[in-house]
Amino acid sequence: MDYIKLESRAKINITLDVVSKRNDGYHELEMIMQTLKLHDDIYIEKMTENKIDIRTANRYIPLDERNTAYKAAKLIKREFGIYDGVFIEITKRIPIEAGLAGGSGNGAAVLKGMNELFGLGMPFERILELAARIGSDVPFCAMEGTALAKGRGEILAPMKPCPHFFVVLAKPPEGISTAEVYKNLDLEKITEHPDTMKVVNAVENGERDSICSGLLNVLEEVTIPRLPIIGDIKKFFEVQKAKGVLMSGSGPTVFALFDEQKEAEKAAMAVKNKFLIDDVIVTETFNP
Ligand code: C5P
Repeated sequence: MDYIKLESRAKINITLDVVSKRNDGYHELEMIMQTLKLHDDIYIEKMTENKIDIRTANRYIPLDERNTAYKAAKLIKREFGIYDGVFIEITKRIPIEAGLAGGSGNGAAVLKGMNELFGLGMPFERILELAARIGSDVPFCAMEGTALAKGRGEILAPMKPCPHFFVVLAKPPEGISTAEVYKNLDLEKITEHPDTMKVVNAVENGERDSICSGLLNVLEEVTIPRLPIIGDIKKFFEVQKAKGVLMSGSGPTVFALFDEQKEAEKAAMAVKNKFLIDDVIVTETFNP
């Protein structure tokens, strides 16, 4: 086998809670994560020349160490003493720097892809372990589905699949860095935490209304005052009769849940016209 093709999927956070600040600069989290159907395509090919060559049409994506796909390839090469090179082509559909784990998913796909391509025979636990060394969301991206994540995000308990929803994603053009969001979070000042276990039960029992009313992300308390458009998009989706609305991850993407595809498409069109933003995507939840 000389090449492999994979799909690298986006995620949303159904809940995101910050429990404490750790001594290593990270935060102790508790969050329910859900994979979406929306995906990037990853093509990996072996090369005789010993290098990592990344290509993508999106000019905002770095092609070096800053790219999670690059980090994953470098880690695998080092761990297994591989002197072949890899050519990696990323076809981007997931908005970047969005809170949708697009980059993390690419890293997870490269770990899994190189495991196959080079016949490394890594068991899934080993992939998860390497994934955690690349980034906090990479292990969940390797797992996919519905899960409760703790620690930095790398301690995963798979859950029963979340009931199916159509999902509209709307990403305002203004960026906000994950590190910046966590840095500006004052744990003492958080006014409302999600009831994570209640939402876990709602998800596992397929209680759609309780899932939607339980959506909560404490990081909104940092991002909405800085980027009020996030709050405006949330309110607008509510007027469009979304069943539930929340910012994903550290933002700035807002997602809205719908029962019907038609309603989701209508709301997507309305949000696009109202806020004049390009990154509006209709997708759905995905469980493998
Ligand atoms: O692990 P990752 O590189 O995705 O994290 C990016 C940044 O987000 C970290 O450098 C840290 O500032 C912040 N972060 C955090 N606590 C987490 C995850 C990320 O403070 N659990």
